[in-house]
Amino acid sequence: MAFIFLPTTSLLCLLVVLTCSASLLSHDEECLALFEFKQTILHQKLDSWRKIRSNTSDSDCCLSDGVVCSNTGHVIRIDWSGSSLSGIINSNSTLFKLVHLQMLNLSMNNFVESQIPSEIARLKQLRSLDLSYSGFNGQIPYEISHLAQLSSFDLSGNSLKLRSIGLEYLLQNMTRLENLHLSGVDVSSSVPHFLANFSSLRSINLRECQLQDEFPSAIFHLPKLKYLNMRNNFNLTGSLPEF
Ligand SMILES: *[C@@H]1O[C@H](CO)[C@@H](O)[C@H](O)[C@H]1NC(C)=O
Ligand SMILES: *[C@@H]1O[C@H](CO)[C@@H](O)[C@H](O)[C@H]1NC(C)=O
Ligand SMILES: *[C@@H]1O[C@H](CO)[C@@H](O)[C@H](O)[C@H]1NC(C)=O
Ligand SMILES: *[C@@H]1O[C@H](CO)[C@@H](O)[C@H](O)[C@H]1NC(C)=O
Ligand SMILES: *[C@@H]1O[C@H](CO)[C@@H](O)[C@H](O)[C@H]1NC(C)=O
Ligand SMILES: *[C@@H]1O[C@H](CO)[C@@H](O)[C@H](O)[C@H]1NC(C)=O
Repeated sequence: MAFIFLPTTSLLCLLVVLTCSASLLSHDEECLALFEFKQTILHQKLDSWRKIRSNTSDSDCCLSDGVVCSNTGHVIRIDWSGSSLSGIINSNSTLFKLVHLQMLNLSMNNFVESQIPSEIARLKQLRSLDLSYSGFNGQIPYEISHLAQLSSFDLSGNSLKLRSIGLEYLLQNMTRLENLHLSGVDVSSSVPHFLANFSSLRSINLRECQLQDEFPSAIFHLPKLKYLNMRNNFNLTGSLPEF
């Protein structure tokens, strides 16, 4: 197997050097990247992490709390929600080397009013991104709009703004969305009509988003919609359909 596999891989790498250099991190390199990332946002509560901190080279990050790897050894899920993490995620953070990540949950931590780095958009495989209630501040980077695989997207409860781009631009390619939660984000634009075409949507929370203009009533007819919260958008107009 190895004889066949290796030359093929190298050949592919010659053809697509950049992609390969990003995705061919070994299991150990991914664990090291994860370890370095965690070190920048360490706070307390690190019992489960201690075995990795004591020795990076002989521990497997896939066995640590909140981390799931694929059977090929890539880190694919990180759930460190409510883990008393505190710090800043820099644009050069090793988190962005984990390009196989499908799920990232950092909700309920404290990122000390820092910005969400635009490099988050390198994590193209993300299906689920939850940065809610984590003390992020500033503009939502427009690059997040490239995360077209997202089915769950939650930036609620941060002092975030979406002033440079509108909601329409941000969401245009996230056609697989099931959960859209941006409550408290200063969006200040209208609700895109195309949301009525995102047929997987189950839950929309755009409470207190400074939304404007008329709410597209077609959204009420989304087949899977179970939860819709548009409270406290004082410049939003529209009326409920008859049920
Ligand atoms: C870490 O693991 C390496 C390789 O297994 C070993 O040589 C080294 O002594 C260990 N360091 C500590 C601090 O345990
Ligand atoms: C993230 O973690 C929180 C707390 O455990 C949980 O309530 C939330 O549902 C998780 N988010 C996603 C998208 O799974
Ligand atoms: C990453 O960026 C921060 C701030 O911009 C800087 O202090 C740090 O030295 C950088 N780290 C590396 C490894 O380049
Ligand atoms: C959305 O997808 C189209 C077609 O793939 C692409 O041209 C466009 O740049 C994407 N827009 C964003 C904001 O990612
Ligand atoms: C929704 O999809 C239909 C059918 O594909 C299309 O005709 C319509 O323009 C779309 N609406 C929006 C607002 O994108
Ligand atoms: C509503 O619109 C008015 C006029 O455009 C504006 O002055 C006001 O700040 C808006 N209010 C909110 C809550 O967005």
